[in-house]
Order: sequence, then C-alpha cells, then structure tokens
Amino acid sequence: MRLLLLGVVLLLVLTAFADSSATANHTKQILKWATDRIHRVWDINRKIFVQLTAKGKSPLGGTVVSSKQEVEAETYRLYYELAANLSVVPVAELDDPLQRRFVQRMSKLQLQGLRPKDYEQAKDLLRQIHNFVSGSMVCAHEECSGSGALAMYPQIFNKNMHTKQYEELLRNWKSWRRAVNEKDVAKSTFIDYVRLLRMAATYNGHVTPSRTWYLNYDTENFQAELEAVVWEIMPLYRELHAYLRHEVQAAYPKAETKSDGAISAPIMDQILSQDWYPHQFFRTPHHGKQHQLPSVHRRLEQVLVTPVKINHKAAEFFESLGLIKLPSTFYDRFSRRMSEEEAGGDCKSQVYYFPPDVALRYCPKLDYKKLMQVHGTMAEIQYYQYKMRLPFGLDTEPCPGFGAAIAETVILASGTARHLEHLHILLNKSLTEEQSLNRLFRMGVHTLIAVPQYFINDKFLVDVMDGRIGVKDYNCAYWDLQDKFAGVQPPSSRLNKDFDPDFKFYRGLNPETSNTKKFLAEILGFQFYRSFCLTSNQYKPGDPEFPLHNCDFYGNQEAGKKIHDMMELGATRHWRDVMEIATGERKLSGRGILEYFAPLFTWLKERNKQLDIEPGWDADELCRRD
Ligand SMILES: *[C@@H]1O[C@H](CO)[C@@H](O)[C@H](O)[C@H]1NC(C)=O
Ligand SMILES: *[C@@H]1O[C@H](CO)[C@@H](O)[C@H](O)[C@H]1NC(C)=O
Repeated sequence: MRLLLLGVVLLLVLTAFADSSATANHTKQILKWATDRIHRVWDINRKIFVQLTAKGKSPLGGTVVSSKQEVEAETYRLYYELAANLSVVPVAELDDPLQRRFVQRMSKLQLQGLRPKDYEQAKDLLRQIHNFVSGSMVCAHEECSGSGALAMYPQIFNKNMHTKQYEELLRNWKSWRRAVNEKDVAKSTFIDYVRLLRMAATYNGHVTPSRTWYLNYDTENFQAELEAVVWEIMPLYRELHAYLRHEVQAAYPKAETKSDGAISAPIMDQILSQDWYPHQFFRTPHHGKQHQLPSVHRRLEQVLVTPVKINHKAAEFFESLGLIKLPSTFYDRFSRRMSEEEAGGDCKSQVYYFPPDVALRYCPKLDYKKLMQVHGTMAEIQYYQYKMRLPFGLDTEPCPGFGAAIAETVILASGTARHLEHLHILLNKSLTEEQSLNRLFRMGVHTLIAVPQYFINDKFLVDVMDGRIGVKDYNCAYWDLQDKFAGVQPPSSRLNKDFDPDFKFYRGLNPETSNTKKFLAEILGFQFYRSFCLTSNQYKPGDPEFPLHNCDFYGNQEAGKKIHDMMELGATRHWRDVMEIATGERKLSGRGILEYFAPLFTWLKERNKQLDIEPGWDADELCRRD
C-alpha cells in the first residue's frame, strides 16, 4: 500500500516535471525563433546607419524613410506574433525566473497588440497627430497659401521665443488651436486614438484601460504615485509660480494677470520655452552683468576644439566610473557626424542599436547645452552595451524613462561648475553665490514648470481613457487640471467645444515620447543623482561647500557600480527592484528635486515675502460648461 502510494506520488512529480520541462523547452524554442527574427530588424538598422553615413552621396532620404518603415513593420509583426505564441504558455510551470519574466513581459503589448488593420489605423492617427505639431497649418496673416503657413514646432515656437508682444503670443496661441481643431478634427482624432488604446487594453485583459498605457510600470493605480510627487514638490512650485507671476508684469505688462493669481497659458508657454534662450525676457534673481553665468562658449572652443573631442570627454566620464571603455572601432566605424542640413537648428544626436554594435550620429555643435546632452547620449550608448548581453525581450530598460533617468544624472553632473573646472573650462569649482542662484533659478524654471505639465497632460489622457472625463467635458476638465496642478488659466474665456491642450500633449500621445516617460525620467533622475552624490560624498547635506546642485560624481567607482548594476539587469527585474539598487527606495519621490533646489526655495520664500507676494491662486471660471 505504502509502496503504491509512493509510486503514485513519484509518478505525479515526474509528470509535473515532464510538463514543466516541456513548457520550458517550448518557451526556449519561441525565444530562439524571436531572436532570429529580431536579427532581421537589427540588420535593417545597420543598413540605415550605413545609408545615412555613406560618404560622397547626397542623403538618401527616400530609401531611409522606407527602411525605417520596414523596421517598424518588422518589429510589429514580430511582437504581435510573439505575444500570440506566448499567451498560451502556462507561466506557472516555468521554474527559470528569466523565462517567466520573458513570457510575462512579451505576452502583453500596447498598440502593437492590435490587429494589423487597427494597428495601421493607430499609426495613421499618430501621423495626423504629429502633423498637428509639425505640419504647416497656421496662417501667419489673414490670407495665406500653403507655402505661407507655419508649423507650431519649430516655426511658431521659435517666433514666439523672440517676441515681446503679448498680443502676438496670444494670437499665435489662438490661431494654432483654431487651425488644428477646425471642424473638431483634433478632438475627433484624439477620440479615435483613445478608442484604439482601449482596444489594446482589452487584449491584455485589463478592465481599466490605463493599466495598458502604464504597462511596464506594472503598478495598480500608478497615477496616484505620480500625483503624490506633484503634491510633494508643490510648495516649491507655488513659490516659483508666485515669483514668476511678479516677473511677468515686468516682461509682459500687457498680459493682464487675473486677480486670482493664475498665469495665462501663452505666458507660461513662453516662460518654459525660454529656459535655454540666452536673451531671456524674464529676469534671473540677480541682475547685473557680473552675476550672469560665465559664458563657457569660448573656453569650450579653446579647450575641446572639436565635437569629436567632446564625445571622447563624455565617454571618459563613464570610464572614470569604471564602466565600459568604448573601443577605437567605435570611433572609427560607428561614430559619425550628422550632415550639415540636419545639423542646422537644435539637432539631437541619434543612437542606433544593432548588436553586437551600437552606433552614433552626433550633432556637431559646441556649446554648454550640447556638452551636457552628449553626456546623456553616451549614457544611452553605455546602457545598450550592457543590455545587448541579455536575452531578447529583456534587453531593454525595465520601464520607459528609466534609461533617461540614469542619463539625467550624468547630464546634471557634467553641467556643474565643479565638473567644468575639472575640464578646464571654468577656473573655479564654484560660482559666486549670486551666479549659483541664477543658475538654479534657470534650472528650476526648466524642471519645476515642466513637471506639473507632464503630469497634467498624462492625467488628462488617462482620465479620458478610463472614462473619468466625459467627451462633452474635455476642454473644461483640461482647464480644471491646469488650474489645480499648475496655476495656469486660459488667456480668455473658452468653451467646452474648444480643444486647448498644447503641442506637448499631442507629442505625448505617442507611447515612445509619452509624458509619463518624461515625468518619470525627471523625477527618478533627481532621485538617482541625489543617491550617487551621497555615495560619492560629493553632496554633504548641510555643508555649503558641497551642495547637491554642484555635485560631480565623476571618477567615483561606487556610484559607477550602482549604475553598472542597474544597467546590467536590463528588464530582467521589476523597475522597483532595479531602482532600489541605486536609491534603497522603491517609490518615486520628489526628495531629489527638493534637496537640489533647496537654496532656491529658501531664496524664493524670502524674496516673495519682501515683495509682499502671496503664493497660490484661486480658480476663476474661465471655461464655460454650457
Ligand atoms: C510563433 O508564431 C508564428 C506565427 O504565428 C509561427 O510562425 C512560429 O512558428 C511560432 N513560433 C513558435 C516557436 O511557436
Ligand atoms: C572661487 O570661488 C569662491 C566662491 O565664490 C571664492 O571664494 C574663491 O576665492 C574663488 N577662487 C578663485 C581661485 O578664484
């Protein structure tokens, strides 16, 4: 009897074992199949890079575009079929945590989970949405033919940047909105697009559609976590907002600030767009030439001489941390300068991934902003080098924005006076107190004004998606969010039939450039930065010699190890596990931002008191719900 029982148990164990090993084998086959397929995509990427950098040829615009479409189509087919293959794999039977993670991660998709016809429609809608921002849609004057029309970005955006006339800002603000939403086009495009996002969620079995929008954040009610951060930094935001409102009166006397204290939307756009503009209309806290930030441009040209040298310097930052040293083949074969046409304006370097190689097309500019951005690009290249060692499907960041957050830390460090002194670009490790505050102020405008806007744009989309905002109430609900989280109001009375989100909202509809991703990158970036700076002892809380905002963790191997350990994991673990390596925390928090901007916060509070400015605002009903 006993023996029989033992036999039965043994048999059961054996069958289970056989099942699980069959499942494991099957999963392995699927992975192999997918890996073969992704190689095709990488081959096209390689081809694109070669086409774009071929010597002595005019740019092969058309060919490159078609290759890019090929990449997209191939990737879609692969992901779609892979998800179908994996959806029937019983995950519970898999013992290997990596296999389990692969199946869980690749069996759920966003837009790529849609059937081919619907996916095509989604791409089509995204193209239209892109066109709202970059298409020539706005007539500069009453009458205009196609050629006279302007695009919101970059044309109107750049024009605005140079205008001191409030009337003109207002006119552009209104005419772009009128143009994109003529006959409700913008609104109905948005509605169609949301319908597809919801459909994608049903394929994942998500009852709440935003679970699919927030797919790889893998958190119940992720929005609540984002909102908590917005409230955490709100006291600082309110002081900055109050001070800016005061400054607006000097820069734009005609922009009537409504008595309730909110800032008019075209003005807020202007404040944000001027963050890098050298001839700002909004004054920094300390006026006077001697308090202006030292111009690094000339020294940059003298010291670094060429963009290639900047690339080397930025790459060396990572070597100093004990990360990968890029081989000379990288510089010889896979690092190429952008063509002159592309290099015009505000060009951004591009990174191409086709393992075993990673390639770079860089923007050949030499200024402070580019110097910082190049460090971000090099972070991306480092990350790819580590990710490519992982199996397909897990060779990515653990959640969207995670890589950008790591990059942000190096960008922040590279822009400090301490680092610029190290590079012999500045002669002193620290700026004067006044300069330092001016710098923090500009960084503050750049970061603190942007963060609530990322949140509002994201929340608006998600609340519509989940049905918390009804179609009849879109516009006023949007302005309610602007009021509640940013103290921004429409420049004049608006109606619910208008559709007023800004161009960054439209950009953020594409999951690749979502506002969620930007929000996370910014917040987590400061969290990481704080942690690397504490680790390296370059930030000593309470010590004015080592404030967080002048921390350069260059050369610190301990900070480097944290970066290394995070990069090496790719997407093999939940993003909270990975962030914990660097921060010891598992949640987003505004603490990094608050500590970074602490001196600014102190100054703003005092200054606002002196000027008798009351921070905050009250809602004035400027959107009519009838
Ligand atoms: C996965 O699905 C595709 C298309 O449905 C099929 O061609 C392929 O053989 C499948 N792969 C495996 C390993 O099952
Ligand atoms: C560097 O700046 C600090 C703070 O402004 C100042 O006290 C110091 O004298 C400066 N050092 C040099 C070498 O200019």
